[in-house]
Amino acid sequence: MAATRIEVTAGAGAYPVVVGAGALDSLPALLDDAGLGSQLVVVSSPIVWELHGRRVATLLKKRVKAPVLIPDGERAKTLQTLARIYEALIKARADRSVTIIALGGGVIGDMVGFAAASYLRGVRLVHIPTTLMAQVDSAIGGKVGVNHALGKNLIGAFHPPKLVLADPAVLSTLPRREFRAGLYEVIKYGVIATPSLITDIHTKRAALFAHDAVAVEPVVRESCRIKAAIVSADERESGERRTLNFGHTVGHALEAVTDYRRFRHGEAVAYGMIAAAEIGAHRGVTPARALDAIRAVVTELGPLPPVSDLRASEIVAATKRDKKVVSGTLHFVVSTGLGTTSELTDVTDKELKLALKTMGIR
Ligand SMILES: NC(=O)c1ccc[n+]([C@@H]2O[C@H](COP(=O)([O-])OP(=O)(O)OC[C@H]3O[C@@H](n4cnc5c(N)ncnc54)[C@H](O)[C@@H]3O)[C@@H](O)[C@H]2O)c1
Ligand SMILES: [Zn+2]
Repeated sequence: MAATRIEVTAGAGAYPVVVGAGALDSLPALLDDAGLGSQLVVVSSPIVWELHGRRVATLLKKRVKAPVLIPDGERAKTLQTLARIYEALIKARADRSVTIIALGGGVIGDMVGFAAASYLRGVRLVHIPTTLMAQVDSAIGGKVGVNHALGKNLIGAFHPPKLVLADPAVLSTLPRREFRAGLYEVIKYGVIATPSLITDIHTKRAALFAHDAVAVEPVVRESCRIKAAIVSADERESGERRTLNFGHTVGHALEAVTDYRRFRHGEAVAYGMIAAAEIGAHRGVTPARALDAIRAVVTELGPLPPVSDLRASEIVAATKRDKKVVSGTLHFVVSTGLGTTSELTDVTDKELKLALKTMGIR
């Protein structure tokens, strides 16, 4: 299967997202095409490097020295870990001609991206995302950053990459739970843009979980196409990009009240999408058919971590601290039918609590 090239436009320059099973082999050629060859530094995590590093090292031969390995996972996404990247870059005498390659999931991508945004006031960045979450979402769009002890992604920048290389074949080593977490983000794209993605997850579930490239590649490609189109139209999230936040208001709140320990991001978004659908249905803007479809596909993917011990009041309070609050107003994305969304700016605490109640949260 030939790789697909999707262009993203960004203020700092357009960049391609190359999607294809086996496309990793074209890394050297893609770096050369983009004029990124001179000085390369690869940053990855020990786990990812163990699984896929040798292949990358072989492809890049003598062009890279030893990789910079840093821990990943949400709890490692800190300024402390970031400092280790700077230190390695300085010790390697990386200058402004360096291109930093982030090989890993969303945590590696966000952290390495922020290092690239800030090291010497900005150097070039390439993403090679290795989780489904990172391939369909975090590697595209230029948002980079780290968490602060007081909140998620509070320190960051917009720093679009020069190239994103998404090879679904590298997902074959991904633990099932991580793969599933990424699928919830694909469901989101189904709700906000391409309903056939929801049908695909329903009909091709077994092949997807078996990491069959014939099933996985089109799902990744369509998801990348949607994300690329949306961020190209609205890089800085002043309007259209907010549609990507569907399910994320309650999702982020669930992650925050459980101290980022209980849920994979996608799992929290799964609950968040149900909450958003309930609110929309209650308002009469989300058709019952859409609510049913969202509930059905989420349920079908299997059980989620429990929520019944959580307090609705705490979750509601957490939504108010979210970055989606602009000048005190929460922009809440609702489905207006499969494939379309709109925003509500007047969702009340009571409506949020009613939606949470349908999920067993009081
Ligand atoms: N920048 C954005 O626009 C954006 C969008 C969505 C999510 N994010 C961020 O992405 C992060 C979540 O990303 P994630 O879900 O990829 O988590 P992650 O980066 O922590 O990766 C999850 C786990 O998978 C392992 N892993 C990675 N690739 C693997 C592979 N191929 N085989 C086996 N194991 C592998 C990692 O070692 C890690 O333990 C969050 O911090 C979130 O804020 C950012
Ligand atoms: Zn998300």
